[in-house]
Amino acid sequence: MTQELVNGFKEKNVFQPAENYKKEVLVTHSETYRNRQERLSFWEERASTLSWFKKWDTVLEWNPPFAKWFEGGKLNASYNCLDRHLESSRRDKAAIIFEGEHGDSFVLTYSQLHREVCKFANVLKSLGVKKGEVVTIYMPMVPETVIAMLACARIGAPHSVVFGGFSAEALGNRIKDAGSKVLITSDGAFRRGKVLPIKENVCAALKSVQGIEKVVIVKHTETEVEIIENRDFWYHNLMKEASSDCSAEELDAEDRLFILYTSGTTGKPKGVVHTIGGYLTGVATTHQFIFDLKEDDIYWCTADLGWITGHSYLVYGPLANGTTILLFEGTPDYPKKDRFWEIIEKHKVTILYTAPTVIRTFMKWGSSYPEKRDLSSLRLLGTVGEPINPEAWKWFYKHIGNEKCPIVDTWWQTETGMIMLSPLSGVTSLKPGSCAVPFPGVKVEILNRLGQPVKKGEIGFVAITEPWPAMLRTLHRDDNRYQDTYWGKWPGKYFTGDGAKLDEDGYFWIIGRVDDVINVSGHRIGTAELENVLEEHPSVAEAACIGKTHEVKGQAIAAFVILKEGFARSEQLVNELKNYIAVKIGTIARPEDLYLTEELPKTRSGKIIRRILRDIAEGRTIGDTTTLADSAAVETLQKLNVS
Ligand code: WT7
Repeated sequence: MTQELVNGFKEKNVFQPAENYKKEVLVTHSETYRNRQERLSFWEERASTLSWFKKWDTVLEWNPPFAKWFEGGKLNASYNCLDRHLESSRRDKAAIIFEGEHGDSFVLTYSQLHREVCKFANVLKSLGVKKGEVVTIYMPMVPETVIAMLACARIGAPHSVVFGGFSAEALGNRIKDAGSKVLITSDGAFRRGKVLPIKENVCAALKSVQGIEKVVIVKHTETEVEIIENRDFWYHNLMKEASSDCSAEELDAEDRLFILYTSGTTGKPKGVVHTIGGYLTGVATTHQFIFDLKEDDIYWCTADLGWITGHSYLVYGPLANGTTILLFEGTPDYPKKDRFWEIIEKHKVTILYTAPTVIRTFMKWGSSYPEKRDLSSLRLLGTVGEPINPEAWKWFYKHIGNEKCPIVDTWWQTETGMIMLSPLSGVTSLKPGSCAVPFPGVKVEILNRLGQPVKKGEIGFVAITEPWPAMLRTLHRDDNRYQDTYWGKWPGKYFTGDGAKLDEDGYFWIIGRVDDVINVSGHRIGTAELENVLEEHPSVAEAACIGKTHEVKGQAIAAFVILKEGFARSEQLVNELKNYIAVKIGTIARPEDLYLTEELPKTRSGKIIRRILRDIAEGRTIGDTTTLADSAAVETLQKLNVS
């Protein structure tokens, strides 16, 4: 199905779906519902497309900011992603096509995946995992990670997946906060032909963190690892003995499905809590409608399983819909810069969901790489994670989509669980750079400080003004922080931390974060987290970090550091400090620039004025300095060599 989008509106920069395209799409209108009752009926109808052991009593109980969806209902996410497909021809359909870094690939059908998940669920039980206990998963992009997630879901143990690129210390903090007793990991991970020491990081983390009683290790890279008797077990040995008979627990709709840590404006990561019924309803519906899902799609989402996109649109949404997912272990440039296009050609991928930073990287490499491959299987493209600049959008549309594939620019967050703003493919006209309109049943508004809607064209805060099924329920062990962070600005309205404006057609244009959060290549990093780490270094007196505009990454981290008395400035120290962050948090957090300075711009009350640092880092003339306590600070900073 590759009907062309009519490009007659190109001069106005609007891409309209053609009439015959419209006829084939799943959803035929993008009408949002007018009031809460209509929205709830929509979500109730959507929930009923899942398999429930017991139907709910109420659709929504809303005691702001605490929501309960489908209270009284009983279901299981693993059952919905697996068992219910076994009764149809999906039984032998590919659930996962795995493409390894070295070009090895294999398929797991729905019935095979079901078997592995049941076995591993029994393994978890034999290790003593009980309902409600958080299992931490620290793994590469391999099928066993999906198996582990679904096995947790099957027995009602919430999972906490920690991105494999996080450092030992970051892993340790998350294990501690979650209170996990069991950890699933692997010996190593392949990365551009090298092996990353996953298990070594685990061992390092567990030296200083108490509580983990059992570690399960998947053999993947065949790296030699330290095994601690009675604590560490090989996955394949445990699986050999496990029974494949394991019925799915009948869980409450509001039982926890997972927690996922994300950065906030303070140093401590937040454990975002998602529960089963509403989350599954939200991700399955959005995945089906936005990607205009067809039974024979080969759907590829390039996000890592360690992020929310991996959870919602690589595992739960697609598998609940019985989709064939492609799971790729490697990177876009290994062994060559055409790896993505090679994979699309090889597996006949129909839907590609990726990030603007990746697209900008491809643009830089040039169109000769995709041109040499057959990409004609593609029918739909999607982006997520950060605003996409119209230039990158058009490049993606032309060179990857061959001017035939709609692009869905999807806006959402770890906390929203599901896509909130997006075009509906084939229905909504597309405007490069805009994530279009709220999904049906979702209410998003742009508000001023007082919580009133701003006029079209004016910049304001993005707020979600009605509860939605996949919303986070709280922060792990921290209801107060949940309340303050998201609901403290306006009562009953969710503050997203993003700024945006509406155009004359009511389309949303996201500007970016308005809080102290940096978005590097679609990954969220809090400035406070970075500054705390820097300030732990013996040489650092004070640090301030900002996001500076970056051609490929969207934003890059720039750090300004004041050294303690007695430490001399040197290139070597700059590198040491950059590496210190990489070791403490992970390489994604390594600053692009780090300036040693003697002063930082501050208000009279001592708050750092980051806006001035951004002006300096980006080489702009410095804006308003009236709130500055000491104007000499700016002169000192301007002398820094920030080319
Ligand atoms: C933040 C959420 C949602 C999965 C990936 C990131 C930014 C996300 C878009 C988009 C503009 C976007 C926002 C948001 N963001 N998608 N399509 N256009 N900005 O999840 O780490 O929770 O980050 O990513 O700033 O608040 P996350």
